[in-house]
Amino acid sequence: MPDLSVDICGLSFANPVLAAAGPGTRNGAMCLAAARGGAGGIVTKTVSTAPASVPRPCMSVVRGGFLNTELWSEQPVEKWLATEYPEAREAGVPVIVSLGYTAGQIAGLAPLVAPFADALELSTHYVPDDPSPVLAALAAAKAAVSVPVFVKLSPHPDIRELAVALAAAGADGLVMINSFGPCLALDLDTGLPLMGSRDGYGWLSGPAIKPLAVRCVYEAARAVSIPVIGVGGVTSGRDVAEMLMAGAAAVQVCTAAILKGPAVYGTLAGELDRFLAGRGRDGLPAIRGLAHRAVRSFSTTAAAPEVDAGRCNRCGLCRTSCVYQAITLAAGWQVDPGRCFGCGLCVSRCPRGALRLPA
Ligand SMILES: Cc1cc2nc3c(=O)[nH]c(=O)nc-3n(C[C@H](O)[C@H](O)[C@H](O)COP(=O)(O)O)c2cc1C
Repeated sequence: MPDLSVDICGLSFANPVLAAAGPGTRNGAMCLAAARGGAGGIVTKTVSTAPASVPRPCMSVVRGGFLNTELWSEQPVEKWLATEYPEAREAGVPVIVSLGYTAGQIAGLAPLVAPFADALELSTHYVPDDPSPVLAALAAAKAAVSVPVFVKLSPHPDIRELAVALAAAGADGLVMINSFGPCLALDLDTGLPLMGSRDGYGWLSGPAIKPLAVRCVYEAARAVSIPVIGVGGVTSGRDVAEMLMAGAAAVQVCTAAILKGPAVYGTLAGELDRFLAGRGRDGLPAIRGLAHRAVRSFSTTAAAPEVDAGRCNRCGLCRTSCVYQAITLAAGWQVDPGRCFGCGLCVSRCPRGALRLPA
C-alpha cells in the first residue's frame, strides 16, 4: 500500500488532499464534514475584519468549470472565534485558517485566530504589479504568530517572480491558484449575467483552470524551496498525481467538493492510492516533482503514434479529429506517416489509451 502521508512545515497530513477555503469549509460543521469525508487537512473559509456582503446569485456551473462571485465569509470573526474554529478543531486534522486581506487587517486578526490555527493562509486576489501590499500582509502575519504562514495567489502573469519575493520575505509555503477572472457568462433566456455581482462578472474554477494551476505550481516549485500547495480543477486522483508531479507538496479541492459533496476528498485520496499502487510507486516522493526531472528533447520532427491494437475498439474519435486526415480504420487502425504531422491530438482523444507517441 502506498504511503499517502505528507509533512508540510511540521504539519502531518494523513493524505495530501485538503479542503480548500470556500463553501466546503464555510463553518465548523462543514469542516467536520470535510474531515469525515476524508480530507487530510482543512483550510477554513477566508475571514476578514468585517463580514462580507455577498452578491446573489453567486455560484453557477458553466461548461468545463464553475463561476462564483462569493467573497470572504459572511459570518463575523467573533462567531468564528466563539463556535466555528473550536468545532473545526474537533475534526482531528490540521486546521489552516485563511485570513484576508491588508496588513492592518491581518495584524488585527492573526493573534485572535492563532489559538485555533496549525497554520495561516493569507488569501490574495490579484496581486498588483507592486507586490508590496502582499509582502506587508505577510510581514504582519509573521510578526503576530509562530505557526507557519502560507500565501495563496491568483494566477499571476509572473508567478515565479512573486513566489521568489514571498519566499525571500519569509513565507513558509505558497498556495496556488485562487479562482481566475474576471469572467462573464450569460443567461440566454434573459440576457442577464449569471452572477449577481455589480458588473455581472464572476471567477472561474474547476477543470477549466487546471492547466493554468499546474503551470503556476510547476513554475513556483522550480523557483523556490518552500512547499507549494496546488489548487485548481482537481477532480480525480490522476489530477492529484499531476499536481504532485508538477512539484506540489499537497493539493486543495474546492469546486469538486461543492458539486460532489465532502466524500470527494476521500474518493480522490483512494484514487491516488490506486494510481500509485498501479505503477508500483510506494509514496508521494516517488512522483513529486517528476515534471522537473523528466526531459523531452526539443524536436520539430513528426513522429506518428503507435497503436495498441488490443485496446483499440475502432470508435473513430481519433480519425474524426485528425485534421491531417492521416488515420484510417477500414483495415484496422492505420496511420499514414506521410500525412501525420505528429501533433499528438489523437493520443489525447483516445478514450481507451490505445495510442501513444514513440518515446
Ligand atoms: C464559491 C467559491 C468560494 C471561494 N471562497 C474562497 C475563499 O473564501 N478564500 C479563498 O482563498 N479562496 C476561495 N475560493 C477559491 C478556492 O479555494 C480555489 O482556490 C479555487 O476555486 C480553485 O480550486 P477548485 O478548482 O478546486 O475550485 C472560492 C472558490 C469558490 C468556487
